[in-house]
Amino acid sequence: MNKSKLICVCNGVTAKEVRTVIRKGARNLSEVQQFTKASLSCGRCRAELTQYTEKIFSNQKTDIQQYISFEPE
Ligand code: FES
Repeated sequence: MNKSKLICVCNGVTAKEVRTVIRKGARNLSEVQQFTKASLSCGRCRAELTQYTEKIFSNQKTDIQQYISFEPE
């Protein structure tokens, strides 16, 4: 997804801003909503926001699982 893509029109939240709050510690969709206000007005963007945040979180889990499975010699 283009980082400057507007996910939430009502609150002017871009994909980049969603990634930024997750990188800064948002741990779930609810926290992403709380920090950005995305999907808290008309709610029309909720499905896209949910899909986008789930994709980011699932990629993070994959990264963590790779780290955990690493066994130093
Ligand atoms: S488009 Fe996101 S709350 Fe309306």
